[in-house]
Amino acid sequence: MEKRDLFGSRLGVLLALAGSAVGLGNLWRFPYLVGSNGGAMFIILYLFFVFIICLPLMFTEFVIGRRSHANVFGAFRSLSSDKKSLWSKIGFISVLCSFTILSFYSVVGGWTIDYLVRSCMFQFHVNSDYSEMFNLSTQVAWRPLLFTAIFLILTGLVVRMGVKDGIEKFTKVMMPILFLMVILVAIRSVTLPGAGEGLRFLFKPDFSKLTATTVLSAMGQAFFSLSIGCGTIITYASYVNKSENIMKTSSYTALMDLGFALLAGMAIMPAVFAFGQSPTEGPGLVFIIIPQIFAQIPFGSILAILFFFILFFAAITSSISLLEVVVAYLIEEFEMVRRKAVFISFTAVCVVAILCSLSLGPLQEFKIAGFAIFDFLDKLSANILLPAGGLLFVLFAGWRMPDQDYINELTNEGTLPVNRFLLKAVRFIVKYVAPIIILLILITGFVI
Ligand code: PHE
Repeated sequence: MEKRDLFGSRLGVLLALAGSAVGLGNLWRFPYLVGSNGGAMFIILYLFFVFIICLPLMFTEFVIGRRSHANVFGAFRSLSSDKKSLWSKIGFISVLCSFTILSFYSVVGGWTIDYLVRSCMFQFHVNSDYSEMFNLSTQVAWRPLLFTAIFLILTGLVVRMGVKDGIEKFTKVMMPILFLMVILVAIRSVTLPGAGEGLRFLFKPDFSKLTATTVLSAMGQAFFSLSIGCGTIITYASYVNKSENIMKTSSYTALMDLGFALLAGMAIMPAVFAFGQSPTEGPGLVFIIIPQIFAQIPFGSILAILFFFILFFAAITSSISLLEVVVAYLIEEFEMVRRKAVFISFTAVCVVAILCSLSLGPLQEFKIAGFAIFDFLDKLSANILLPAGGLLFVLFAGWRMPDQDYINELTNEGTLPVNRFLLKAVRFIVKYVAPIIILLILITGFVI
């Protein structure tokens, strides 16, 4: 079997995790959900889920991954005392979930390449028809298929290079550039005349917007954005050495991800309002509104290139982490070489991604539970599969792993000076608070 790789540096680990977390979830999904769920109220709920549920869950995934040093399936098997129990097999759900997310994620990733190409060809003009442009990019079959394939090939190439030479090197260079770029775009957006209303929408809560659906989507978005619930953190953590400070690295990752989401909101919402557009545009928000805005501001064509560059790189560092979950599983459970594992998972994802993409155009009429395949997989994974995966993880770590093992892994066998109260609080959340809240919201979400 192939030798297991390890990340080469602490910064590399952090940036790879941040690379996984920061992605289309922040720049595409977050702004449109904030827009259609009433602004500030959604953000408050989101903050609650990030800090109270998802951060402890990130510690938990980290503990499971680093303690087992195995792919997500092997991790649960090796940490289960009874190797025949169902608990030892729950990792398989994570592999499926990562696969599902990657299938629709790569379609949106394809759109980002398409828009990057469009921006490089200076196609955004004041009187272009942007809805028509978006339809062309997403519905006319060959075009999204071509770009989705390019996106998946690029993802596969990085994953094929392995953890240290591919994933770590790539994200280490890209993440800091990304941060600078999004800050630049946000500054431009908040200094537009009339931007104030957008900022008010983002930061002034309207409590009448508090509904069960808003709560469910805020929770789903927190899971999705932090890459929690489908084993990406478990997989990355399995390449981390024993001296890494789990709580610190996870907290930095969560803060970076949150900062990025808020910056993305500030880059998009003020501009939407300044130009009298509607924030409830849905999944097309970034793609329909942003080019339109860029067409109307000084240096807009350059900013548009920067923006779609950000979107593309943010997307690919996340899709790399999703593909790595499946690839690590194939390598370790089926004794495949990395090249073969990448090829097989790439081919399988391509098939579902094609269906996803076609479901927005020629296959529009084909519906599952009333949704086109694309929307169905998006909602299914963020609102149900990820929280359900997270629920299994906390139940496993809280009730199948001895308290002391969990604490030992979190504190590097007691060598890190972590506040005892904090440790108790984390353990309490993992055992009681997180399972109860996730379960309640999932049930309410189903019933309503
Ligand atoms: N967190 C990524 C994003 O925000 C998406 C993702 C979800 C990646 C789940 C890995 C696992 O775009």
